[in-house]
Amino acid sequence: MNDLHVVVLAAGKGTRMKSDLPKVLHEISGQPLLEHVLRAADGLTPASVTVVVGHRAEYLRSRLDGRRGVQFAVQEPQLGTAHAVLQAEALLTGQTGTVLLLSGDVPLLSTATLHGLLQVHLAERAAATVLTALLERPYGYGRIIRSQGQVARIVEERDASPAERAIREINAGVYAFDLEPLFPALRSVASQNAQGEFYLTDLVAIYRRRRLVVASRTVADPAEIRGINSRTELAEVGALVRQKKNEELMAAGVTLVDPATTYVDSDVVVGADTVIHPNVYLEGQTRVGAACEIHAGVRIVDSTLGDRVTVLNYTVMTDSIVDSEVRLGPFAHLRPGSRVGAAAHVGNFVELKKTAFGAGSKASHLTYLGDATIGEGVTIGAGTITCNYDGVHKHPTIIEDGAFIGSDSQLVAPVRVGQGAYVAAGSSIVKDVPPGSLGIARSRQANVEGWVERKKTARASAGAPAEPGPDPASQPNR
Ligand code: UD1
Ligand code: CA
Repeated sequence: MNDLHVVVLAAGKGTRMKSDLPKVLHEISGQPLLEHVLRAADGLTPASVTVVVGHRAEYLRSRLDGRRGVQFAVQEPQLGTAHAVLQAEALLTGQTGTVLLLSGDVPLLSTATLHGLLQVHLAERAAATVLTALLERPYGYGRIIRSQGQVARIVEERDASPAERAIREINAGVYAFDLEPLFPALRSVASQNAQGEFYLTDLVAIYRRRRLVVASRTVADPAEIRGINSRTELAEVGALVRQKKNEELMAAGVTLVDPATTYVDSDVVVGADTVIHPNVYLEGQTRVGAACEIHAGVRIVDSTLGDRVTVLNYTVMTDSIVDSEVRLGPFAHLRPGSRVGAAAHVGNFVELKKTAFGAGSKASHLTYLGDATIGEGVTIGAGTITCNYDGVHKHPTIIEDGAFIGSDSQLVAPVRVGQGAYVAAGSSIVKDVPPGSLGIARSRQANVEGWVERKKTARASAGAPAEPGPDPASQPNR
């Protein structure tokens, strides 16, 4: 619709959140509340989108930097919802058509519901159309007062009489307005109410006095219009969003062993026949392939996994790419910029940072690989450490195809281990190891024959518990 102008109210502080962060930037399923609202509006391809900002306006704007086509109106100070809409006037002068007014704190609304609201609005040629819902517990919302079936006015909880509070039909805070009479009428809203604010909801009575048509549309699913004013509501609505996502995943062929404890952000994609065990977190822009198995306690953030990947318990992964048939964990840690090639194995207590780990390579236990490029078919023994940091700079380690790093080795970067080369266990490698050679960098072993017997004799003659003299076995570098 090219004469549709979306205005989103997001200037309020959200006092009841008791937060430093503007309310609309609190997140559910990995996205700020405001982003959920903007996405629902995107589906209508509006001619313009205006966000009214106020509390921490600059910060809020900076958080929306990546979003094209959003313009901002600043409301300072915040004198109520009618006053907030008025701030968008300058940006909409010369326009005609419909204003769809949304609240930045009502994140569950679907595009379909908004579409339905607009249809009623246009069909009834209304000056205003209010989205309403029938709630079992209407507490806190504005109530819809009807006369002869038509919406006569909206009364806020704090201003309502006991009889009005008993009304179960509530104002969702979402409206379609004909642009033409909107701004002049908003100027006639007064602030004589319990909060001393300029209420947008007063527009309904103003329009009715002027004999303008006020229509309404009731949502089919009242859960959609839930507004978030407190941390409790944030958690409750978060659970609804999660549940919906989990149902979508299961419908698409993903097994969730326990959906109640599976936390998958909205944008995450998971392939069919993947099995997700309890207490798994898939966050941000993560993509998981088909037929993977993600075991309990795993957290994957902004990462991509191929098909048939097994991630064993308590593995943590951020900003990394893992090819098909890889086996990770338990307790593996893939830090940003890691890439694991097909069928590789990254085992327990292995940490990768900015490391490319080639196909078919193995690091099965207790290892740190940072700023490293590991070829294909490499074996990294237990306790291998890349010493990538000299206290000032980070340096690269390169291990070429087919190399074998013996256990408990340190690779002091920058350093290269050539193709097919071996590093002897316990080495501190400070120079490149050429292809096909053995790098050994440790002290030679000396065996002191008969030492144990001598030690016992010495102890007996001195009378226990005296110790024998200096113990050659305890001297380093012999
Ligand atoms: C509002 C409605 C209420 C409705 C409810 C639905 C009014 C007076 N009341 O109440 O009838 O049932 O939403 O969720 O409109 N905002 C500004 N500037 C301001 C004040 C608020 O931008 O000066 C923004 C807030 O950031 C928020 C939205 O407007 O995104 C709604 O404000 P809020 O204070 O949450 O209104 P409610 O009390 O929930
Ligand atoms: Ca609200």
